[in-house]
Amino acid sequence: MEVTRDRAWQTLTTYTKSEALLRHALAVEAAVGGYARRFGEDEELWRATALLHDFDYEIHPTLDEHPQDGAPILRDLGYPAELIDSVLSHAEHLEMPRDTQLKKVLFACDELSGFVHACGLVRPTGLDGLEPKSVKKKLKQPSFAAGVHRDEVYAGAELLGLSLDEHIANVVAALQPIAAELGLRTAADAVQA
Ligand SMILES: [Fe+2]
Ligand SMILES: [Fe+2]
Repeated sequence: MEVTRDRAWQTLTTYTKSEALLRHALAVEAAVGGYARRFGEDEELWRATALLHDFDYEIHPTLDEHPQDGAPILRDLGYPAELIDSVLSHAEHLEMPRDTQLKKVLFACDELSGFVHACGLVRPTGLDGLEPKSVKKKLKQPSFAAGVHRDEVYAGAELLGLSLDEHIANVVAALQPIAAELGLRTAADAVQA
């Protein structure tokens, strides 16, 4: 089958109804898609992979099922091994090698996209004007977005060979165009308010 972003969206929305999970998928997609463009990679495949990385979370909400029990579903739907392998590799507990750029980028964007999203939610201008240094400051406050694994955020930047500042700036820039889909305000809203 030909992997397309739209096909992946269709699969995702078949299994996932929660708005929070759909927004998480969109955020990770935007971040991973940004890196695909930056690195000159297959953006359609990378976006589809990012959209599907947690596609089974609603039906498999525990780590003894997610994401490993989702893989056979993706296989039956005809998704290629490269996509399925990458989806599996995002899970720390499966301890799979992150031996491709796609696997590295997916891992590096998963937690950080959620964290940047959370930063945007508490700012009147959303992601507009959000600087890496204020994201880093919030990373050091354990109570803020407490579910985000800080060690995975730091490990992700290192895996990409980027400074944390660069990685944060890239993710913020990738998420800005979809602020509305993520339920975030923008500088324009703040002016109107
Ligand atoms: Fe996951
Ligand atoms: Fe995720």
